[in-house]
Amino acid sequence: MTTIADKFRLPCGTTLKNRLAKAAMTEQLANSDLMPNERHFRLYERWSRGGAGLIITGNVQVDRKHLEHPGNIVIDRKPGGPSMDLFRRFARSAQQDGARAIMQLSHAGRQTPILVNTRPLAPSAVKVDLPGNNFGEPRSMTSAQIDTVIGQFVQAAHVASEAGFSGVQVHSAHGYLLSSFLSPLTNHRADRYGGRLENRAKVLMTIVDRIRAELPEDFILSVKLNSSDFQKGGLTTEDSLQVAEWLEDSGVDLLEISGGSYEQPAMMDMEGMEKRYEEKKAESTKKREAYFLEFAEAVRARTNMPLMVTGGFRSRQGMNEALESGACDIIGIARPLCVKPEFPNQLLSGEVDAVKSYEKNLRIGPGILGPHSPLKIMKTLNGFAVMAFFYENIARIADGKEPVENMNILAAFIRGQKAMAKKARALK
Ligand SMILES: Cc1cc2nc3c(=O)[nH]c(=O)nc-3n(C[C@H](O)[C@H](O)[C@H](O)COP(=O)(O)O)c2cc1C
Repeated sequence: MTTIADKFRLPCGTTLKNRLAKAAMTEQLANSDLMPNERHFRLYERWSRGGAGLIITGNVQVDRKHLEHPGNIVIDRKPGGPSMDLFRRFARSAQQDGARAIMQLSHAGRQTPILVNTRPLAPSAVKVDLPGNNFGEPRSMTSAQIDTVIGQFVQAAHVASEAGFSGVQVHSAHGYLLSSFLSPLTNHRADRYGGRLENRAKVLMTIVDRIRAELPEDFILSVKLNSSDFQKGGLTTEDSLQVAEWLEDSGVDLLEISGGSYEQPAMMDMEGMEKRYEEKKAESTKKREAYFLEFAEAVRARTNMPLMVTGGFRSRQGMNEALESGACDIIGIARPLCVKPEFPNQLLSGEVDAVKSYEKNLRIGPGILGPHSPLKIMKTLNGFAVMAFFYENIARIADGKEPVENMNILAAFIRGQKAMAKKARALK
């Protein structure tokens, strides 16, 4: 029987000490130099001592003009130079007690906040369709700009390797640049990067092939991929399965499965954020703890590549069942680790069996103020305020404090917005 305590050997030869992974969570802790700092080191030391065999960093951006948040870490320079020491400390802090850390690399594309860039680059000029004026009018990339971005991802992987990270994860999910190339809703190009799936996947596949070819053999290469965009006309499950096959052929060590985007945040499955799905999740998936297991099974039927599923895992039983059923090899955990950073060790030792889904019980207020409000604006606000709960707890751990289970999430959201505006101003 396979359990969360079992080791796992990746195709590159690196062995993970157990089947639990801390999934990527943007820390938003960098100062205006966009570098790792003491707060990152404290946070990752705690997370890596928390017991997960694999630690995936929050999204590190490959271009400072395309951040997901003005507090992101950026790598847009060659390896070497004085900043390498900070990246080395980052890698060390995340690899305590035998944990392996991989750096998630991303380019925010059209989902770059307007405070950071009013005209972000994207496959096509398709603006994020959300209320508020948080995202600018994107510019369609030239093929020279596409070549630059490919080079930026590969260069960042070299820096991660030089710093001592065990690998990288290429972020091709959640509507950021690489996943927006995959989706026909956001990629209307008529050149070799648009149209049929093979073309839409070209940027991702070129990055993956170059990283595999240029980095050491035992360097972990992971990709985070959407099972679907959950939007009519978006990336379909069948498209995703095909991309998974190509990724296996290109020697990817670990495919992490997620789904959705800012417009359709399926990966969060939260009240107030979940109601607009046009492509519904299958009933069988709904009954299981994790959101994307059914898709994982479909990938499994077509590939032999190791799979990680993230989204919804909260109990040892749910995790062991997913492993035992063969649907996945690695269990991704994100939100619970903002409140219980030692959750993996506690599960492994038998001290606890499960953790709460904190996001399900947080709300700005009762009734009309809550996530079930008939007012769309309140639903959306609740979704963002719940995220602020997790960001504040990440910051608490980074400051050496204990996370809290209760907070005024509206106040946390307002604090977060102010901090973001201040950081964005400091970048100018
Ligand atoms: C605070 C926070 C930050 C996140 N940042 C990232 C990120 O940088 N990259 C990414 O791929 N996913 C990110 N996610 C999504 C998580 O990796 C994960 O897919 C999602 O939270 C579902 O897993 P869970 O149910 O275990 O929380 C973030 C989630 C949260 C809550």
